[in-house]
Amino acid sequence: MTTIGTPLSPHATKVMLLGSGELGKEVLIALQRLGVETIAVDRYDNAPGQQVAHHARTITMSDPAQLKALIEAEKPMLVVPEIEAIATPMLEELEATGVVRVVPTARAARLTMDREGIRRLAAETLGLPTSPYKFCDSLAELQAAIDGENGQTGIGYPCVVKPVMSSSGKGQSKIDGPADVQKAWDYAMAGGRVSHGRVIVEGFIDFDYEITQLTVRARGADGSIETHFCDPIGHIQVSGDYVESWQPHPMRAGALEKSRQIAKAVTDNLGMGHDGQPGGLGLFGVELFVKGDEVWFSEVSPRPHDTGLVTLATQVQSEFELHARAILGLPVNTALKTPGASAVIYGGADAKGIVFDGVDEALRVPNTDLRLFGKPESFTKRRMGVALAFDADVEVARTRAKLAASLVKPRVV
Ligand SMILES: Nc1ncnc2c1ncn2[C@@H]1O[C@H](COP(=O)(O)OP(=O)(O)OP(=O)(O)O)[C@@H](O)[C@H]1O
Ligand SMILES: [Mg+2]
Repeated sequence: MTTIGTPLSPHATKVMLLGSGELGKEVLIALQRLGVETIAVDRYDNAPGQQVAHHARTITMSDPAQLKALIEAEKPMLVVPEIEAIATPMLEELEATGVVRVVPTARAARLTMDREGIRRLAAETLGLPTSPYKFCDSLAELQAAIDGENGQTGIGYPCVVKPVMSSSGKGQSKIDGPADVQKAWDYAMAGGRVSHGRVIVEGFIDFDYEITQLTVRARGADGSIETHFCDPIGHIQVSGDYVESWQPHPMRAGALEKSRQIAKAVTDNLGMGHDGQPGGLGLFGVELFVKGDEVWFSEVSPRPHDTGLVTLATQVQSEFELHARAILGLPVNTALKTPGASAVIYGGADAKGIVFDGVDEALRVPNTDLRLFGKPESFTKRRMGVALAFDADVEVARTRAKLAASLVKPRVV
């Protein structure tokens, strides 16, 4: 049975978000609507989610001492990681000693915090199809991994190099031939989140399209955990960052079935806690590459996915509502309401306190909606908002979302 208390009272149901960007903001709003007391944590003040939560806290989440002190002081019932750069070994310690429950599990947060944990789990432990890959700690190792050594075949060209710790395409580049190797290495070294100097090199998959398979682990009426799938989300990435997404993406039955098998295998495993019990609840974004009936696992977020912003327009319950409900032990409904699309609005300039012109024109595009995230500082390539559109024809929705996004004009004042 799930019981929810009164916020700001001794019996409040308290949930702490670690990371309070645009995705966390929507999860916080969903939690607020269910009467949960929320604590929004980020590394800077006035982060989007902090603007809609009961409490705002600013700490360095990668610092284990700061993280422990905050969790022990606030005593939330649940800790919900929204980003990867968190001191996850500390979360594992706090979970193992019963101080707090981590969503979906502290183990999942650790395994997905860098590319190595999740890739080895998917390919080596679970035997799922992935691109061929190798981890390298130097330029020489990278070259050897591409060329092959000791009689082993190399990854070859073209291939993709990514820092082990990075997201949104930072430090990531494609290598088409020997002349690009040094450049890709230097770019990865400059773009990694923590300067480990470690990269993954992956064989380039010449896919027909890529999708996000949103997958929810939620409690059923008998208390057991059930897996639910949303309709596939198609998306376009530019320089490793999502610019446009739509739902549903049409798929052949065979490819859809394989996608869901892969998503089930990964989320079943990540839903298992340190105790080996399948207790992990919540929504996951499983990223897959598809060519014909062939499907490759790429990566997974144990939390709402940026391409899933489209579900704010398309689903009965958005991915944020699904996450909020699942983690509280509530039932979920993953049904599609209407086809639709999303298009990203970038800052276009490096400045604080920018304004957005043309919001009215954007919203005059039929069947559209907007989210402006309220980020205090804009960067040229920072995601500042998203336009949403729905239509019975997904292509019409895509055109309208892009049109609405283009009509919103960020301006430095
Ligand atoms: N091996 C590959 N072959 C072909 N394309 C790839 C490969 N790896 C990555 N890509 C392309 O680059 C995009 C970003 O890669 P990936 O998801 O690994 O990076 P990321 O930095 O974690 O991105 P995000 O945080 O936005 O999910 C993919 O969605 C895909 O379009
Ligand atoms: Mg990705």
